[in-house]
Order: sequence, then structure tokens, then C-alpha cells
Amino acid sequence: TEHYAVFGHPISHSKSPRIHGLFAEQTRQRIYYAAQDVAADAFKAAADAFFADGGKGLNCTVPLKELAWQYAGRLSERARKSKAVNTLALQADGGIWGDNTDGIGLLNDLTLNHGINLLDSRILILGAGGATRGILAPLLEQHPACIAIANRTLEKAETIVNEFADAKLSCCDYAGLAGRQFDLIVNATSASLGGQLPPLTDDLLAASGCCYDLAYGNQATTFVRWGMARHARKSLDGLGMLVEQAAEAFALWRGIRPDTAPVIALLNRERQ
Ligand code: ATR
Repeated sequence: TEHYAVFGHPISHSKSPRIHGLFAEQTRQRIYYAAQDVAADAFKAAADAFFADGGKGLNCTVPLKELAWQYAGRLSERARKSKAVNTLALQADGGIWGDNTDGIGLLNDLTLNHGINLLDSRILILGAGGATRGILAPLLEQHPACIAIANRTLEKAETIVNEFADAKLSCCDYAGLAGRQFDLIVNATSASLGGQLPPLTDDLLAASGCCYDLAYGNQATTFVRWGMARHARKSLDGLGMLVEQAAEAFALWRGIRPDTAPVIALLNRERQ
């Protein structure tokens, strides 16, 4: 039985052990996957100890993704660009590989699970923190018409736009969104966890546009409810993305990709 874990703070409500347990059952893999409360200042020592004890792979969540990016000896291209790592894997030579499966997780949920096509679409991302960095590269690869990043603190959005240096990428503050419309609005702020929303005008969502909140909860999030009230074609929370990013991590570690649909269906039933 090989050992895996998710590190984060807080971590007690993490669904990752359950998701990886279901994947292991489905693919008949013998793994042990634990959740461990690790604060930022304890991360390096905890990760060193985990791998020294024979651990094979780690997921890292808030607030550790940037530290995990620094910790990894080698990085996938998408992790290098995002400056955030959610998956660490022990390699055969003892090195630690860092990847970021958040963006591909979001993309798989949007396109494969929900049939939302991003080609030529106008995308708005709310927020300019680590979550935004993690999803940008895979979204840009879908050839959208444009991606705008709106953030309360404009400088943080400007830094990301300069780093990614893509002609389709732009940024503004929330006031700068006046009069504009988008086919997909992604909430990547941490505001919705506290029941808050950035200031969004009523006509921001184009007709038959979609909303996606990277956060999730047992009830519809504030942003999901905002989308429903604006008659979004779909207004989704991040549960599907959570399962999809986990499937990508599982595939990286175990070399076999689990079927996500039954796991998403089960978790959806459990929260109703
Ligand atoms: P994460 O790693 O989850 O992205 P983060 O790096 O702390 O977390 O970023 C949180 C994002 O949510 C930021 O873009 C933050 O805006 P600022 O950069 O202006 O701080 C945004 N955010 C948090 N609370 C918010 C609120 N009440 N209204 C608008 N934006 C908010």
C-alpha cells in the first residue's frame, strides 16, 4: 500500500481523501490517502518528513500552493507558468515533480462534463490570486476571443497579465467592467467563501452565458446564486473541478485515469 496525502490549512473538511478512496476502489489500486493539517510555516518540514517516510505523492491546497511550487525540484510547464503547485509526485530517482492540475480540472468539468465550448468565447475571471494563476494557461489554450481579469487590487491583475504576456489577456478593476458582457464568468476570488461578492453589474453576463464558481459548498454559493438570478445557461460550483483535478493527480501518480462521472454523481447526492 503506497501512501499519499493532502496538506492544507484548514483541512478538516477536505473531500480529497474520500475522492481518492473512491478512485482507488474503482481502479483496484491499493493506496492510503490522508488529510494533514499543515500551516505555511510547517510545510517544508512536513513535506520532507512525508517523503522521507516513503510517501509517494502529495496534494497541496490553500495556503500552500506557492510553497509547493518552490519545493518541487522539477515543474510541469503549466505549473511553472502558474507559480502554484497542487500535486507533488516522488520520481524514480528521488526527485520531486510538481504539477498543477487545477486548470485542466476546470477545463474538463466545463467542456467534457457540461458541454461548454470556450472557442471564441469572452471569458471574465474575477480575482487575481493563486486560483487565477492556476487556471489561466489551460483556458488560453482553448482559443477564447478574450480573457479579462477583474480585481479589486488592479496591480495584482496587471502583474499576472504581464507575466502571461498573451494578446488575448487584459485586466481592469470592477468599475472597468461597466458596459461589457461575457459568455463565461469564473469566480476565482475567495470572497464567496465568506458569502460576499465583488461588485458586479446586472448586465455583465451575456444571454445564455455561464457562471462557474471555483468554490463549492453544501448549499449554492453566493456567486452561483448570482448567476442563477441572471438566468445563466449554467451556474456551476467547483465540485466537478475538484473531482477532475483529483483525477489528473491520481493519473499522474498511478498511471491510470479513474472515471470521474460516478464520483461526481455520488458527491452531489451526498450534499443534498
Ligand atoms: P487564492 O489562492 O484562493 O486565489 P488569494 O491569492 O488570497 O487566494 O486571492 C484571493 C482573491 O480574492 C484576490 O484576488 C482578492 O482580491 P485582492 O487581490 O484585491 O485582495 C479577492 N477577494 C477576496 N475577498 C474579496 C472581496 N470581498 N471582494 C472582492 N475581491 C475579493
